[in-house]
Amino acid sequence: MSKKALVVGGTGMLKDVVRWLVEQGYLVAVVGRNRERFERVLQGLSQPETVDYIQLDYHQTHELRAAMEALLLRNGPLDLVVSWIHLTAPEALTTIQMALSRQEQEWRLLQVCGSGAWKKPPQIVPTANCQYRRVILGFVLEGNSARWLSNQEIAQGVVNAIRNDQPLSIVGVVEPWEKRPAY
Ligand SMILES: NC(=O)c1ccc[n+]([C@@H]2O[C@H](COP(=O)([O-])OP(=O)(O)OC[C@H]3O[C@@H](n4cnc5c(N)ncnc54)[C@H](OP(=O)(O)O)[C@@H]3O)[C@@H](O)[C@H]2O)c1
Repeated sequence: MSKKALVVGGTGMLKDVVRWLVEQGYLVAVVGRNRERFERVLQGLSQPETVDYIQLDYHQTHELRAAMEALLLRNGPLDLVVSWIHLTAPEALTTIQMALSRQEQEWRLLQVCGSGAWKKPPQIVPTANCQYRRVILGFVLEGNSARWLSNQEIAQGVVNAIRNDQPLSIVGVVEPWEKRPAY
């Protein structure tokens, strides 16, 4: 039976993570708002039918909860959730966790965080059967200057984090902190 994954924000910089999961044989559900962005994720995939689109705004907590419950009913328990959720939606991740806490099977949560999580780690509510992993997106030092990560570097770093399965993964570097690029 196929493993099942959910990628929240999987149509932007995590697009290649979704595509990698499909290649690994996962059934993948992707949360986003813009269907055209989702269609671009499917381009060139040999099995686009294994990717499910959950079109919603993750600020809408009731809608998000209902969508997670419907996903579990439709596909059964999930193995992996990769979450890239903006800080403007502080309830979204807990809503997903609470919905999935009803499943008996253990699942892995990879929370992808911006560099700020290095100095101010997000508060995570522990929930049943959830193995929590944090991925912090840092920056790249190039000689005396620094730049933010490219989408390709981010996606590859998240794939490595899924493979290596450590409690904390850092993509790029977070130190020396004072060298990080300006926003
Ligand atoms: N440390 C670093 O170097 C670093 C860290 C973070 C970001 N970045 C860069 O910054 C760029 C922009 O970041 P970004 O956050 O806009 O990333 P993004 O990954 O390009 O887009 C955000 C993703 O989340 C979805 N999304 C956003 N708001 C949503 C909502 N309210 N409800 C449901 N889904 C939602 C988007 O889909 P829809 O638009 O369809 O909703 C999309 O899939 C990235 O491309 C990356 O290169 C760099």
